[in-house]
Amino acid sequence: PRKIIIDTDPGQDDAVAILLAFASPEDLDVLGITAVAGNVPLPLTEKNARIVCELAGKPETLVFAGCDAPIARKLVTAEHVHGKTGLDGPTLPDPTMPLQDGHAVDFIIDTLRSEPSGTVTLCPLGPLTNIAVALQRAPDIAGRIQEIVLMGGAYFEVGNITPAAEFNIYVDPEAAKLVFGCGAPITVMPLDVTHKALVTSERNNAFRALGTPVGIAVAEMTDFFERFDKEKYGSAGAPLHDPCVTAYLIRPELFTGRHINVEIETGSDLTLGMTVADWWGVTKRPANATFMGEIDADGFFALLTERLARL
Ligand code: BDR
Ligand code: CA
Repeated sequence: PRKIIIDTDPGQDDAVAILLAFASPEDLDVLGITAVAGNVPLPLTEKNARIVCELAGKPETLVFAGCDAPIARKLVTAEHVHGKTGLDGPTLPDPTMPLQDGHAVDFIIDTLRSEPSGTVTLCPLGPLTNIAVALQRAPDIAGRIQEIVLMGGAYFEVGNITPAAEFNIYVDPEAAKLVFGCGAPITVMPLDVTHKALVTSERNNAFRALGTPVGIAVAEMTDFFERFDKEKYGSAGAPLHDPCVTAYLIRPELFTGRHINVEIETGSDLTLGMTVADWWGVTKRPANATFMGEIDADGFFALLTERLARL
């Protein structure tokens, strides 16, 4: 199995991404979970990460709290999408498993230095603050990262938090710029992909029909999340953004994209946090990321449902 660190701001869709990883031990070995401020403030994201570990029956997981604010800006949150707790929908017990003592950034650095080079993949599901601060503090780790597979950005789908920007990149554009420039192999799941991974009521029913605490909680999470997106976009259901990251690591053939140059806008008020993706190769800038564009959504939901049934 591939060794991963999940960096996250749960978030219902983050929770499903984590559950999919736990449900796939033959493919993924979760070395630890690092929480970052994003959808809700850090005290809630680290707590939610532990709630999800306990829901999965994995209380031994190492969970660390990381940065509580973006590198150079005030935190922007998304309670309008995820609810006050960040994990609204199901009623889940407060976690009893511990939060680890150290800082998430130190865990990321220490793990990348202690594991053999090229064997640890980072899975950022929120703003890129923790990853960027780790790279700033320990530039040597960039060359040791196997791959960064992240949810963030958009090209044809443009933005969800502003007309030009996707939430994760918008919240900490300086961090995103650093990560996209770090030289490690990067794979991006932008809105172009995740807006095709829609939880229709049929797919939601399939989660509920698992009849397990995990299946029911996931159905209740996506129910809550769905309410927002149906109203806002009139789409068939909520986009399951972050699970695209863990699904990609399990079944890369579900996704297609292009290896292109992606730069992050940090200067303009109007387009702050935009992922300027050179999809058509009109610049001579070197490719720095594989930017996905298509997903086999039926295959993705089949995988997700089948794996969640194991928990
Ligand atoms: C991203 O923002 C968050 O609200 C979701 O968890 C996802 O990571 C989508 O733009
Ligand atoms: Ca997220």
